[in-house]
Amino acid sequence: MKAGIVDLDTGELVTDRVRIPTPEGAHPQDVLDTARELIGMLGDQADGLPLGVCFPAIVKHGRTLSAANISDDWIDFAAEEFFEKGLGRDIHFVNDADAAGLAELRYGAAKGQKGLTILTTLGTGIGSAFLYEGRLVPNTELGHLRWKGESIERFASASARERLDLKWKEWAQHLQAFYEHVEFLFSPDLFLVGGGVSKNPEKFMPYLSTRAEMRICEHRNNAGIIGAASLARSDEEHLAGA
Ligand code: BGC
Repeated sequence: MKAGIVDLDTGELVTDRVRIPTPEGAHPQDVLDTARELIGMLGDQADGLPLGVCFPAIVKHGRTLSAANISDDWIDFAAEEFFEKGLGRDIHFVNDADAAGLAELRYGAAKGQKGLTILTTLGTGIGSAFLYEGRLVPNTELGHLRWKGESIERFASASARERLDLKWKEWAQHLQAFYEHVEFLFSPDLFLVGGGVSKNPEKFMPYLSTRAEMRICEHRNNAGIIGAASLARSDEEHLAGA
């Protein structure tokens, strides 16, 4: 789990990012305690600032509706209210990949982009954000397309590379299958690639090829933090019914 303070005029982090490993099992109370600790680590500067929280689950009207790599306690859970009560302040709550999408839409590679941009985050799971003509279509969950009877993120996420002990080139072949399938289904104009692995693009990007242009997220692995923070400015603009 990570946090930072963001300048909403520039979309840049104004502090170093602070980070604590996600608590084992990712149960709600432990995640809340860790969030509190992270905010504490940001010091006095964070006092009174609006707070955006992004989270790896389907988020609909402040409720988390799924739990792929976290505790099942989050399924159909009033998460936004839980964080607001627990942290004693209002928050803006959103799916993690959708947050990254908002960051790229407002301050990065999808700004002013025509047509459909599909952003994917490659980490523990695969997150996705659909950005169409300046708006986010939330909760697309492409990591859960079925592939060999399982969610495709089990084969193609960054953690799958480690779990299956794949060389970068072998993992890129799994990724290529994922992007080809997504391209066939949605014909995007641009793919953006984010998540932890976006700091090592040279290891896998040369092996990927799609009709649509493919680029790394400008904000790399900070896009989630920046996008969640940016919700403090306006919940309406850029959002299609999250
Ligand atoms: C979750 C998504 C999340 C993605 C990236 C998936 O397993 O279902 O909600 O965006 O992981 O964290």
